[in-house]
Parts: sequence; structure tokens; C-alpha cells
Amino acid sequence: MAAQPGGMIVILTGAGISAESGLGTFRDLGGIWQQVRLEEVATPEAFARDPAYVQQFYNARRAQAGAVEPNAAHLALGELQRALGDGLMLVTQNVDDLHERGGAKAVHMHGSLFSALCAACGARHPWAGDLGNGEMCAACGQPALRPDVVWFGEMPHHMAEIEEALGVATLFVSIGTSGQVYPAAGFAQLARKAGAETLELNLEATGGPFDRVETGLASEIVPTFVASVIKAHAR
Ligand code: OAD
Repeated sequence: MAAQPGGMIVILTGAGISAESGLGTFRDLGGIWQQVRLEEVATPEAFARDPAYVQQFYNARRAQAGAVEPNAAHLALGELQRALGDGLMLVTQNVDDLHERGGAKAVHMHGSLFSALCAACGARHPWAGDLGNGEMCAACGQPALRPDVVWFGEMPHHMAEIEEALGVATLFVSIGTSGQVYPAAGFAQLARKAGAETLELNLEATGGPFDRVETGLASEIVPTFVASVIKAHAR
């Protein structure tokens, strides 16, 4: 990865950035993992056991994600990406498309609700509506389409690219994630080891390895952070 003149910023986002758009987080009070058991919807074993139930869970999440709008935090990160270009890598654990609709291109390490993956041939298909059980893959003809999301026990996407960026980052920012799920939970430590400053923007401090923590609503603290970086960049 080529060195960036102003230094490389890596931003990791989690469910907290989409909370104010109306999408539930996972581990907050009333969060998704308090409503359904993770083991019943978010593992390959769950899909093998009861594919219809798993499809139904992701169909509901896809419909919900399609019905909400990006908030000020997503929009601010879009603005930051336009200002910094390749000097920013935006990584998200979220499977919604609110970064894209907020004007940013994100590296989706946990996949996307808006893509279907063929379990038989590995082809990916853009997907907007409900995904039926045993839906046919247009590439290989097998009835093997599943949500293109990373389940527990599966390998997150784009890890080599992300680790390369973390290795040259001068600033790592964690936004709206509880830091409970690896490998993303280890990114701050990796960046710090590589010499980056680490910053957390969250409703509450998570106690992770951060040099600085700003607490508050993402829709307020992310635009403030973005404005300060753009100002420093313009100098
Ligand atoms: P969590 O639900 O674990 O954490 C959400 C974080 O967002 C918490 O730290 C909250 O304090 C914070 N938060 C909530 N509302 C906020 C707001 N308005 N502004 C700022 N922060 C806010 O969600 P993630 O950390 O994203 O993986 O979860 C990580 C992974 O666990 C997910 O990608 C998913 C899940 O299981 C898979 O399904 C593989």
C-alpha cells in the first residue's frame, strides 16, 4: 500500500452508527441478540438446520434496512471520503447499505444484506427483495442462494486488505461498535502496534485500547470529528 501524504486513516464502524437511522444494534438493551438467539440465525449450522427461519430473519432485516435513511454520521463519512480519497479506508461490520447511500464506499467485512451468495458455486448476485428458500442461482442453476452475510464460524471478507491498511495507519477510529466480535475487535490493538493513534467514538466507552474516547450520539460526534479532520487536512 502506497504511503499517504497526510497519513492513512482507518475507520471501523458498527451497528451504533446506524442506530439513529432506526436499525437496532445487537448487544444494547432490547438489541437483536436479546430478541433472537444468535445460534439460531447467524451460524452455518443454523442455516443447515432451519433455512426458512434464517431466510425469514434476514428478509426482515433487509426490508428494514431498505426502509431507513442514512443519518448525519453516514453523510459525514461520505464527505470525509471525498476529501481524503485513498487516505481513508472505511471498514464496516454492518450489513446495511447506509454508508453507500451516505456517499461512502465501505469495505463490508461481514458481507451485505443486499447481496445473495450461491453456496454451490460462490457467485454473488445483487439482491433487493425477499430471498426465498432454495432460490435458484442464475450462474449455476443450483437452488443454493443464501444471504451474503458472514456468519459466526465463517471468515470475514477483505482481511488482507484491512490488515495492510492497519499496518500503515496513522489514525484508527472505532465508531459505534462494542468491540466484542473478533477479528474487528482486535483492529485497534493492531493499529496501535503499528504506531497509529487510536480513537473511539461511541455512546459509551467500551474500555478498548484507545488513546482518546469521545462519547455521544454518532449523529453528533461523527460530524464534529469529520469537520476537525477536514480542517487539519486543508491546512
Ligand atoms: P453491538 O450491538 O455489539 O454494539 C453497538 C455499539 O454501538 C455499542 O457499543 C453502543 O454503545 C454503540 N451505540 C449505540 N447507539 C449509538 C449511537 N446512537 N451513537 C453511537 N454509538 C452508539 O454492535 P457491533 O459492535 O456492530 O456480526 O456488533 C459487531 C458484530 O456482532 C456485528 O457485525 C454482528 C454482531 O453479531 C455478525 O452477525 C457476524
